[in-house]
Amino acid sequence: MDSDDQMEVDSAIPFEYKGKGKAAESLLPFEDETLPWVEKYRPVTLDDVVSHKDITTTIENFIAKNRLPHLLFYGPPGTGKTSTILAVARRIYGPQYRKQILELNASDDRGIDVVREQIKQFAETRTLFSKGFKLIILDEADMMTQQAQAALRRVIEQYTKNVRFCIICNYVNKIAPAIQSRCTRFRFSPLPMTEVEKRVDNVVDAESVKLTPDGKKALLKLSKGDMRRALNVLQACHAAYDTIGETEIYNCTGSPHPSDIETIVNSMLSDEFTTSYQMVNALKTERGLALQDLLAGAFEYVETIDFKPHARVYLLDFLATLEHRISTGASEKIQLSAMIGAFKNTVELTTK
Ligand SMILES: Nc1ncnc2c1ncn2[C@@H]1O[C@H](COP(=O)(O)OP(=O)(O)OP(=O)(O)O)[C@@H](O)[C@H]1O
Ligand SMILES: [Mg+2]
Repeated sequence: MDSDDQMEVDSAIPFEYKGKGKAAESLLPFEDETLPWVEKYRPVTLDDVVSHKDITTTIENFIAKNRLPHLLFYGPPGTGKTSTILAVARRIYGPQYRKQILELNASDDRGIDVVREQIKQFAETRTLFSKGFKLIILDEADMMTQQAQAALRRVIEQYTKNVRFCIICNYVNKIAPAIQSRCTRFRFSPLPMTEVEKRVDNVVDAESVKLTPDGKKALLKLSKGDMRRALNVLQACHAAYDTIGETEIYNCTGSPHPSDIETIVNSMLSDEFTTSYQMVNALKTERGLALQDLLAGAFEYVETIDFKPHARVYLLDFLATLEHRISTGASEKIQLSAMIGAFKNTVELTTK
C-alpha cells in the first residue's frame, strides 16, 4: 500500500502502520509465532495500559460523557502513548475501529500538503453509519514541519465538529504553542520498574522464558522505564539463549557488562597511562563496545567512588564534554585517550 492508498477511507484498512516495528499491528489475539512481543502483548483495553491510571481514568470519563477533547500525548519512547490511543479508538468504535481513524506517523510525508489535503479529505469524508466524530492520530508529531503545524491550527478548528485529533510526540516543546492550547495535554512518564516487571513477568510466563533473577534485574535496569525496549531485549535474548542471565542480557544489547566497566575504570585510575590505554582499547575491540556506552557506564560507576568534591566536579564536567564531542562525531581513539587523561588528572587532584 503506498501513501496515496492510505487515504482511501472507504477501504477496509484505511492506513497502514509503518516504522518502529508497527507493521504487524494486530490486537486480535492471533497466535502468530513471528509477531514481535511488543505487538503481541500490546495493551488491548485501557485497563491493560499499565502505570498511567490517572490518564486512562480521565480519558474513560471523557468518553463516558461523550466529551472527548483533542488530545496531546507526550513523553519518552515505549511508555504507552500509541497503545493508549489505539485502546481509546477500540473503546469508542469497537473492533472495526480502523475505519474511523486515520493514523499518520513520521514515516509518512507530513509536509504542509499532507495537512491541507489528506487530513482535510479524511475529515470531510463521512463514512456510512458513522456516528459522532472520527479520530485523527498524528503520531511522532514533533517531526512535523513548523509550516505543517501552522496549517494544522486552522484544520483543527474547522473540523472540531466531526473530528478529534490526538497528537503524539516525544518532545512537547517541538509542538507549536497554538496547537498545544487546542489540546488537553497528558504526560506519559517513564514506567516505574515495578510496572515493567509485572508485564515482563506475564510475558515470561506466557512464553515460558527462562529468565534468572539476575537477568531480570539487568533487563529492568537497561530498559530504563521503556517497556518496548524491555520486551524487545527479552525476545531477542530468548531467541538466542536457552537460559537468560545477566551476561546474556548485556551481550544481547551490546551494553558493557558492569564488571567490564569496573575493570576499565579501575585501570584508568591506577594503571600507568599506556598500559591502561592498551587494556581498554583491547577490551573495547574484543567486546565490540562503543565509547559512548563506556562513558555512560563509567559515569554511573564514578558515582560509587569516593573522590574529593573538586576532583569529582572536574571529572564529571570532563565526561560531559566528552559526551558532547562524541555525539558530534569526534574520533573515538582521541576521545578515549582524553578520557584516560581525565581520570589521571582526577587522581592527581584527589591526592593533592
Ligand atoms: N503503559 C504500558 N502498558 C503496557 N504495555 C506497554 C505500556 N507502554 C508500552 N508498552 C508496550 O510497549 C510497546 C510500545 O508501546 P507504545 O507503542 O505505546 O509506545 P509509545 O509511547 O507510543 O512510544 P514512542 O514514543 O516510541 O512511539 C507496546 O506494544 C506495549 O507492548
Ligand atoms: Mg508511539
